[in-house]
Amino acid sequence: MKKFPVDLTENGIRTLLNSTDSYARRFTETSLRPLLGYREIKGALSDKQNEFPPVPWDMEKLRAKVKSEVSKHVFGWYGEAESAAGDSTRKNVEAFSKYRITPRYLRSDKSFSYSQTVVLSSKELGVTRLTSPTPIFVAPYGAANLYGKNSDEISCAQGATDANVVYTLGHLTKYNLEKICRAVEGNAYYFNPRLRSPGGAPPFSMFQIYLTDDDDINRSIIERVKRTNLSVLIFTIDAGAGHGGIQMMDDYADFTYASKIAGNLFEDPMFNYKCFLKNRCVGTRTPSVLAYASRRLRIPVAKLARTFDLKSAFTYAREIQFKGMAKQNSDKNPKSKMYPWSVAYLARLAHTRQTISPAYSKITHRRGLPLVVKGVMSVEDAVAVQKSGVDGVYVSNHGGRFVFNSVSPIDVLRQIHQKVKKSDPRFGVWFDSGVRSATDVLIAVSQGAEFVGIGRPVIYACVDNGRGGVRQVLQSILYTLRDQARLCGLTSLAQLHEKNRPVIVHPEKSRS
Ligand SMILES: Cc1cc2nc3c(=O)[nH]c(=O)nc-3n(C[C@H](O)[C@H](O)[C@H](O)COP(=O)(O)O)c2cc1C
Repeated sequence: MKKFPVDLTENGIRTLLNSTDSYARRFTETSLRPLLGYREIKGALSDKQNEFPPVPWDMEKLRAKVKSEVSKHVFGWYGEAESAAGDSTRKNVEAFSKYRITPRYLRSDKSFSYSQTVVLSSKELGVTRLTSPTPIFVAPYGAANLYGKNSDEISCAQGATDANVVYTLGHLTKYNLEKICRAVEGNAYYFNPRLRSPGGAPPFSMFQIYLTDDDDINRSIIERVKRTNLSVLIFTIDAGAGHGGIQMMDDYADFTYASKIAGNLFEDPMFNYKCFLKNRCVGTRTPSVLAYASRRLRIPVAKLARTFDLKSAFTYAREIQFKGMAKQNSDKNPKSKMYPWSVAYLARLAHTRQTISPAYSKITHRRGLPLVVKGVMSVEDAVAVQKSGVDGVYVSNHGGRFVFNSVSPIDVLRQIHQKVKKSDPRFGVWFDSGVRSATDVLIAVSQGAEFVGIGRPVIYACVDNGRGGVRQVLQSILYTLRDQARLCGLTSLAQLHEKNRPVIVHPEKSRS
């Protein structure tokens, strides 16, 4: 029988199905086929969209493969090059090895439910309950269209949907959020539960924001997020001091800010209005986007569209984005009681059901958006974030890309969880950084993660193999998760928190 990585192409699966080895046949029939969403090998596999070459299932192999496929420049940007920059990333992964899992075989019920109720809570918005088909989601990442080979934002979003996994749209993307949402909802898998696997309801999508220096533009982006029916706003606070700093230069990975990641600004009505006021040009030719600027400036849309100048618009976009990101995580302003970029202020913008941007004054249906703050690494920050009125904390050190020798998020998760839950048991605690396998997901959940983000495995799978790669990597994690959970006697991950089921123990604690 073929050893891993298994050949998952149509021919590979056919070979396994016809294998003389009965174990290989049964494994393929019961596991690989449903895992890949193929109900019938013949019909489903003749569809080209379903056919893709395998990506390595072992994350170390996938990483090594991607390393050999992309430039040093790009690999350095991932924050994984062999330098101090890679150190925290490696430690995040290694930190999981301290946790051990107790197998529990004596259980008659071998069913397993992937479904996860994600609960968030704030004073202003109350309790939000979202049903996710699985306990994992794709962590936000920007600049996908600069990573080469098959890396593309829409491919990644669709691959995640194919696997029935919640996707997070990044702020720094080539395509605007409306376009990516259309691609997700236009995905055949999204509406067809027989094609989606595993889990039940279709996944929702979320948006991660980096603030600009212009509050009107921030409001406009948040308004668009609400309008597009995205379910959660994630505010990333751990990028305020410049992306990666000196080590990125060392790794030849200074991407700074390219026009290919300014898609959300170029297609923003308020941005174009402001851009015209400042530079006498706009960053798009899309009539619906220019309509707002046209109304306020009393210049016909067609005339405005003729001022399109990507280079100047980009210079303006870069300026406001950099300035905003540099101070977005500040919480104090000597001049004003309500500093525009404080977390509390952002929560108010997200939560309000009123129009917050004049560009959208005619919209009647609106709703409050729950806000989760990403990049929290200490109990003190978690408490401050909770006090500021948001709906949840997202424990993460950005995959170890920024701070050298950083403490690993998995090691601070439990303390943060215990502290914030004391004040509000329904306050959300999310997690990412270092998750490379299904057992890492189990460990993260056991330490208090209610929703587990996957970063580089998805990024690399997309680089290596686009949509199909993303789908494979996520499904391989989910499939293994189901089997590992069953071997631990679990029918759902929620049981990890039941008193008499101490499945995962920390070695130091087990010695005492
Ligand atoms: C190349 C790359 C780009 C990223 N871009 C963003 C981003 O734009 N916004 C953000 O909030 N996080 C970003 N992240 C961080 C991820 O959301 C996530 O926190 C991290 O990848 C998790 O760690 P892992 O890669 O070990 O799973 C990025 C991470 C990587 C590796």
